[in-house]
Amino acid sequence: MKILVTGGAGYIGSHVVKSLIEAGNSVVTLDNLSKGHREAVLGGRFIEGDLEDSKLLNRIMAEEEIEGVIHLAAHSLVGESMEDPGKYYYNNVANGLNLLEAMVNHGVKYIVFSSTAAVYGEPEEIPIPEDHPTQPTNTYGESKLFFEKILDRYEQIYGLKYISLRYFNAAGADPEGRIGEAHNPETHLIPIVLQKALGQREKFYIFGDDYPTRDGSCIRDYIHVSDLARAHILAINGLAGGIDSSIFNLGNGEGYSVKEVIETAGEVVGREIVAEIGERRPGDPAVLVASSEKIRTELGWEPRYPDLKTIIETAWNWQKRGGFHEDE
Ligand code: UFG
Repeated sequence: MKILVTGGAGYIGSHVVKSLIEAGNSVVTLDNLSKGHREAVLGGRFIEGDLEDSKLLNRIMAEEEIEGVIHLAAHSLVGESMEDPGKYYYNNVANGLNLLEAMVNHGVKYIVFSSTAAVYGEPEEIPIPEDHPTQPTNTYGESKLFFEKILDRYEQIYGLKYISLRYFNAAGADPEGRIGEAHNPETHLIPIVLQKALGQREKFYIFGDDYPTRDGSCIRDYIHVSDLARAHILAINGLAGGIDSSIFNLGNGEGYSVKEVIETAGEVVGREIVAEIGERRPGDPAVLVASSEKIRTELGWEPRYPDLKTIIETAWNWQKRGGFHEDE
C-alpha cells in the first residue's frame, strides 16, 4: 500500500516507517521536524510540513495517491499540556481535522491513529481493558480522546475506517541500532536512567516512593518500540482487509516499578545505577498496565521483545551510540 505517515521522523514514527518499508509498503513521511529528526527517516519520500497546512495535505493525498494514513504527529508531553492546553487542542485536535478533511476530499479510507493510555486517567481496574471509563487527568490525554471521538463521527458520516492504538510506555530502540529515542529535553525514565549510567547526567529522581505498590514506586507497562511499530502494520492491513473500526490497547500486560527498571538497567550496564528519591510528579497514576488481550486475539499481535531486560539492552546500545549521526 501507499501510506502517509505523519510524525514519521519522531521516536515511534521512525520505527513505524522502518517497519512499513520492511513489509514492502511505499511510504511518504510528513513531519515538521519540531521534535523529529530527518536522519531518523530510513526510507520513502520525506516532506517537511505541518498539519496546519491544509493545501499541502490535499496536494499530498492527490499527487501521491495515498491509500492509508498512519497519524502520529502530535505534541505528547503531559506536563506541558497542563501549562499550555491550547497548544495541545490546536495541534492534536484542530490540525488533525485538516488531515481528516483532506482524506475525505480524496477518498482515502483508512487511518491508524496514535492514541495513549493517558485517555483512561486514574485506572479503576488493572490490567486496563479498552472499555474502561475514559476520564483523562491531563490535556494531552483529553486531546487524544477528542480525536478518537472525531474519528468515530467521521466513520459514521463518511465511512472512514480507523484503528486507534492506545500506547502504554514505548521504550527501547530498533535492534539494528540506527534509530532510537532522542528527545530534547528527555523526560522518559529509561533514557534518563541510561544517561546517568553514561555519566551524561549528574543525578535523577525516583518520583515518589510512597505509592501503594509493591515497592512504593510507580508501575508502568513498557513495550518495545519495534513491537509497537509492527502493530501499526497489522492495523492498516486489517483495515484494508475489511475489519471494523476499533480501539486497541498496546502494552505487554506486564508492569514494572520505577525501582525495578533502575535495577534491571543496572544489570544491563553491569553496575549499580544510583537514584535519589524525589517528590511525586503531579498527574502520575500509581499503576498503568494494559490488557492487551484484544489486539492479540483480533489482530494476532505478539510482542517479540516482551522482556524488560531485552528492551533496556536495545535502549542501552542506542544510548551508547550517542544519538543520530549526521552522515547517515
Ligand atoms: N519517572 C521517574 N523519574 C524520572 C522520569 C520518570 O521516577 O526522571 C517515573 C514516572 O514518574 C513514571 C515512570 O517513571 O512513574 C515512567 O515515566 P515516563 O515519563 O517515562 O512515562 P509516563 O508513564 O509518564 O508517560 C508515558 C508517555 C506519555 C503517555 C503515558 C501514557 O510518555 O506520553 O506514558 O501512560 F501519555
